[in-house]
Amino acid sequence: MTQSWAWLDKAAAASTPIEDMFAEDSERLSRLSLDVNCGDATLYFDFSKTHLTTDDVGRFAEMAEKFHLSAARERLFGGEVINITEERAAEHSAERGTGATEAVERAFSLRQRMYGLVGAIQAGAFGEIKHLIHIGIGGSALGPDMLYDALAREDAQCDVHIVSNVDGAALAEAFAACDPQTTMIAIASKTFTTTETLRNAESAVNWLKQEGVEDPYGRCIALTAAPEKASEWGIDDARILPFSETVGGRYSLWSSIGFPFALAGGQEAFDALLAGAAAMDAHFRDAPFERNAPILAACVDQYYARGRKAQTRAIFAYDERLRLLPDYLQQLEMESNGKSVTLNGDVVDVPTAAISWGGVGTDAQHAVFQLLHQGTHILPIEFVASAEPGHDLDPEHHAILLSNCFAQGAALMQGRASDDPHRHYGGDRPSTTILLDDVSPAALGALIAFYEHRVFANAVFMNINPFDQFGVELGKAIAKSIATDADTAFDPSTQALLSRVGLQ
Ligand code: F6P
Repeated sequence: MTQSWAWLDKAAAASTPIEDMFAEDSERLSRLSLDVNCGDATLYFDFSKTHLTTDDVGRFAEMAEKFHLSAARERLFGGEVINITEERAAEHSAERGTGATEAVERAFSLRQRMYGLVGAIQAGAFGEIKHLIHIGIGGSALGPDMLYDALAREDAQCDVHIVSNVDGAALAEAFAACDPQTTMIAIASKTFTTTETLRNAESAVNWLKQEGVEDPYGRCIALTAAPEKASEWGIDDARILPFSETVGGRYSLWSSIGFPFALAGGQEAFDALLAGAAAMDAHFRDAPFERNAPILAACVDQYYARGRKAQTRAIFAYDERLRLLPDYLQQLEMESNGKSVTLNGDVVDVPTAAISWGGVGTDAQHAVFQLLHQGTHILPIEFVASAEPGHDLDPEHHAILLSNCFAQGAALMQGRASDDPHRHYGGDRPSTTILLDDVSPAALGALIAFYEHRVFANAVFMNINPFDQFGVELGKAIAKSIATDADTAFDPSTQALLSRVGLQ
């Protein structure tokens, strides 16, 4: 399909500076920005400060037809086996009520089970519970961590600690902050085989035991797609909250993996999160190509990755509540689209997932923005902000925060000429801005669903499978052989490192 993309190289090579495009087309802003109403939330997307033109959008629409984007989207929502390498559907949207009827019904009934357990904890079935230590890693930690941090940290109905790293220091910190007599442990693992999670879970049970808790396993809950493994591990079926095998790890915060948010934020907030995501599903499914936020975002991504050979993309959250968003997106984007072969197994001829990185504004302005304004990299940037603040302090805080956010986008685009090369800003640097009306459950649900669908649309344009992750397995297998077989031979460098710390 390389031939079909030749227009993009040409378009990118001949592109006009972004500022001039505004001067040439008074409709540019309205054509390349849109509000997406997601029930109780509205998200505003502004793609106009990128080099994308409306002609480009038309060409991308033709490419979408060649790559059968509409059909792929229907197969996704229809629960078809779209993850062909693992022979599975990808049914995360069913968790929020969008998808094949059977999957939606199953998700609904499993969610009622989760709410039942939340209710039992709140009603005192396990004695007084003040703390939850949630143990999981990757998709079993990043999503719940972000939800709790963004939406429940302030008024939490239960104090939550998310522990992912197998470095015991992470768990020790959680132990120090919790009273074992009033703590429950949630063990979150889709497969219930992940070494780090099982190691941490065992230490948590030992901690409860040492601290005199009579039935430590009785304080454990499993959030998993492998209930039989959780049961073998020692958790009673009544405290196992299953979710479907067809929900991928990095797409699982909508399922029982989101338990910490359901417990700390409450059922109403969890339902609102799902409703916001469902509204974004409907938008992705029904909005026309040129007014479809995830699709336009994917066009921008493809424009820079293919047309300008950009290798990275930076996301800056101008809101403390969204400080974990860049970490969350790293897994979603890079584990999904960091691939080198197409669906057929042919080597790809394009750069796949951009390396996604970022931070929080305004902090990042004082750390990495020098490179963004004057460095040599081609680097599309994304700003995410909220019109409403997440605090009751002087409104000036939020005014300064948002002025800085919008000023950065303007400065990157307009630049500032100077005779002194050190003080010269070349400008014409692209950025996208996403403005939420507030960081509410509905808005965050819609935002995450937007990113999921953008990843999917990118994958379709690249003809790759975003739903597998075989690249993580080799390192795990080698680590296991180090742990289990002292005689395994390694290269001299690895061997020397192992001997230095007594591992061989
Ligand atoms: O190692 C990668 C990975 O498989 C992720 O895809 C997943 O989110 C994470 O590990 C945790 O897996 P699990 O939920 O099965 O413990």
